Amino acid sequence: MKLFVTGGAGFIGSNFIFYLLEKHPEDAVLCVDALTYAGNLETLAPVMQNPRFRFVKADIADRAAMYALFESEKPDVVVNFAAESHVDRSIENPSIFLQTNVMGTQVLLDACRKYGIQRYHQVSTDEVYGDLPLDRLDLFFTEQTPLHASSPYSASKASADLLCNAYFRTYGLPVTISRCSNNYGPYQFPEKLIPLMIANALADKPLPVYGEGLNVRDWLYVEDHCTAIDLILRKGKPGQVYNIGGHNERRNIDIVKTILAILGKPESLITHVADRKGHDQRYAIDPAFIHRELGWLPQTGFEDGIRKTVQWYLDNKPWWENIVNGEYQTYYERMYGNR
Ligand SMILES: NC(=O)c1ccc[n+]([C@@H]2O[C@H](COP(=O)([O-])OP(=O)(O)OC[C@H]3O[C@@H](n4cnc5c(N)ncnc54)[C@H](O)[C@@H]3O)[C@@H](O)[C@H]2O)c1
Repeated sequence: MKLFVTGGAGFIGSNFIFYLLEKHPEDAVLCVDALTYAGNLETLAPVMQNPRFRFVKADIADRAAMYALFESEKPDVVVNFAAESHVDRSIENPSIFLQTNVMGTQVLLDACRKYGIQRYHQVSTDEVYGDLPLDRLDLFFTEQTPLHASSPYSASKASADLLCNAYFRTYGLPVTISRCSNNYGPYQFPEKLIPLMIANALADKPLPVYGEGLNVRDWLYVEDHCTAIDLILRKGKPGQVYNIGGHNERRNIDIVKTILAILGKPESLITHVADRKGHDQRYAIDPAFIHRELGWLPQTGFEDGIRKTVQWYLDNKPWWENIVNGEYQTYYERMYGNR
């Protein structure tokens, strides 16, 4: 099978490519990535020489470029990870989120229609469901939960999901969608909660926590997300949405304290900053459907996963130090400097 994987120089896409090339020796991957601030070609260094892997720098919203690639490469399957993915950046500047996440998805769907594929898979997020109240721990997102996005990021992802459903219903395009909870693991860009806190703690810098840090996120080790997508590609049903999560809800403040404890750093580094606008309170996935239909279950528990993740950031300092010391520093000052 030849897979057209977009956004593969980012966090989850790169982990997926590593997983896939290892797990399926008969498959080949064409990775298409625009290498925005979040894409890092260094991440893909371990597979660059692999004859079953090829990288092309291109924007998924560039119709001519996408059509040319589909025509020459004739992929069997498309997995779309490419997106603007950071909620805070979407609050600052929503436009690029609509351009990439919505228009880019449409271009890919059109290319799939024009050139034919066996499957188009859209990597979506639980954030399309909005949030749950902190005092109703009995509530979870199921595949039937109405879309109720809160941020420009989640609104753009929800729009893309609707478009995917429309292409399935209208044109019969074999589309699947997965909506996963928060991921953590190797190669995550250090603007996201877990790597940000690890990097700051290691530098003895303040750890900026929004508000009281009581917001709850449902965490999944990135490899478990990859196994779920792989299963959906091979055994999932076109037209179907699959929620992915491991019932691992944690308050942000507890995540930060866990990281400090692993690193042996003091909790006095925690600094509470003004809350994010429209901050979602709680995300919680009900993964019963994917378990029942496809037999998927997560393999990495949180205690194990967070230790492995911290160790990875300790072992791979040059990877994230290059980012933290570069252009990202200007953005960091803007976000946390005056809060
Ligand atoms: N990180 C999470 O916790 C999480 C959870 C659920 C779903 N998701 C979804 O998974 C996908 C991947 O997330 P991530 O955390 O790996 O994101 P990321 O920001 O680390 O990576 C995104 C990648 O997409 C590339 N990209 C951006 N715009 C592009 C464009 N126009 N054309 C081609 N490439 C482009 C970037 O260069 C980058 O390599 C996203 O669709 C996101 O919505 C993420």
